[in-house]
Amino acid sequence: MPRKLYLETFGCQMNVLDSELVLGQLRAQGYESVDHRDQADVIIYNTCSVREHAEQKVWSRLGELRERKAAEPNLVIGVIGCMAERDGTNLFKRHPHVDVLCGPGELDKLPSLVHNAVVTGTGAKGERQIALMGNTSRRSSTLSAAEDTLELLDLSRSISPGDEVTQAYVRITRGCNKFCTYCVVPYTRGPEVHRPPANIIEEVKKLTDAGSKEVTLLGQTINHYHYKHGDGRETSFAELLYQIHEAVPDLPRLRFVTSFPRDFSDQALQAMRDCSRICRYLHVPAQHGSDRVLKLMNRGYTSAQYIDFIDRARGYMPDISIASDFIVGFPTETEVEFQQTVELVKRCRFKNSFIFKYSPRPGTIAIDRFEDDVPEEIKRRRNNELLAVQQQVSAQSNAELVGQTLEVMVEGESKLVSRQARSAYPASQVELKWESRQLTDPSPVETQLVGRTRGDQVVCFQGDLSLKGQLLDVQITSAQNLTLFGKLAEATVSQGK
Ligand code: 5AD
Ligand code: SF4
Repeated sequence: MPRKLYLETFGCQMNVLDSELVLGQLRAQGYESVDHRDQADVIIYNTCSVREHAEQKVWSRLGELRERKAAEPNLVIGVIGCMAERDGTNLFKRHPHVDVLCGPGELDKLPSLVHNAVVTGTGAKGERQIALMGNTSRRSSTLSAAEDTLELLDLSRSISPGDEVTQAYVRITRGCNKFCTYCVVPYTRGPEVHRPPANIIEEVKKLTDAGSKEVTLLGQTINHYHYKHGDGRETSFAELLYQIHEAVPDLPRLRFVTSFPRDFSDQALQAMRDCSRICRYLHVPAQHGSDRVLKLMNRGYTSAQYIDFIDRARGYMPDISIASDFIVGFPTETEVEFQQTVELVKRCRFKNSFIFKYSPRPGTIAIDRFEDDVPEEIKRRRNNELLAVQQQVSAQSNAELVGQTLEVMVEGESKLVSRQARSAYPASQVELKWESRQLTDPSPVETQLVGRTRGDQVVCFQGDLSLKGQLLDVQITSAQNLTLFGKLAEATVSQGK
């Protein structure tokens, strides 16, 4: 009997990809994935540490499992991802019933950790299965992709018939070297390691051959991509974009996230402009509008430099759609400084912004150096105010699209839209993706569908569920803050695509 596995994912697109790869490896070892944890022999949480709120969800999931583990000692519970790395073995103090702990930099070891836990049982030997970067220091800043056994995890991707691959992620860089003072990522995911272009291209090809219509390249600071070949040659981010575009002509949409506002070359912008199948969309977090706060955050640019970049991008592509992230209530932030963030949002006319209240994270520079001195109610008020300003900006930019016909990738039923609008980044995309995946048997029923444009705008329109996964032309008839509404364009109705 195959072991039943339940894997729940929290956090960013990197985690979604990690889960997909880990699931593939465990399936290859005979595990069968189930939709409910009550049915599972192995329960794994792939976790996020970026804000405390994300961790709390996992704490409560683990708390709920305490009694079940006491009644079923053979149940295997694993915590993988950023929380495992950040909290390390301290996690056992609070939740001694966890058997497996594996950081994001060690996930290639997960199948053997789970196997050991299943075979030996934690209770019997009193041993837990642990792989953390902090323990082994395996990933150093001089590590090249060729030496990085984590590369094997990405290379292990296997696509079986029936797998949902319409929208897929491909990692190009692991880790981050930026050390923004508030952020756990450089500690949990380790230093930047860039993947060889040939491996990336191969993966994009494989996915496209299997039916992918949109591939999103992933990296924490994706525009920093550069790969040094054995002979000393370097492949830049711009070159990688050109190479993928040329090598995989059948892929209709290529995207990438997340960009860092500094060191985005003109060549990379030119690649976006020149390659018709690269989506003109940038997610480029500004984080703040005050130069003093940006300095405390160690972001390495001023708000004027950020604006210069946005203007440069729009100079190449006037129709580019740009999204940002902001943190409100960073230690010592004054009202005047907060208003500078408001001004930046108005000035840059973002398609949307993901707005977060500062959350002090253990292990970061900010928690040691700065007191979390902006009161919660002020953080909340600033958050709401910035959200309201962004909504006005979004409404305006959406209104400009009314009357246009836009290509939309159909993701599923639009009941998901309200969820998307409510939820915080990046779970929005995650939920949308996973929920729509569950529609395995689309019946020929007219319903309200939801999809995304090349600029990442959400569009709702009436259509048949069987259109899921297709690229269709939709005429935009009206707009709300975060959502466009439209109808299938005539040509699409008669011919399909
Ligand atoms: N507190 C609040 N927001 C944070 N982010 C990262 N770390 C923190 C923190 N400690 C936000 C940033 C980043 C996004 C992924 O999460 O805006 O771009
Ligand atoms: Fe965190 Fe800054 Fe790296 Fe982004 S660039 S992952 S915010 S340290």
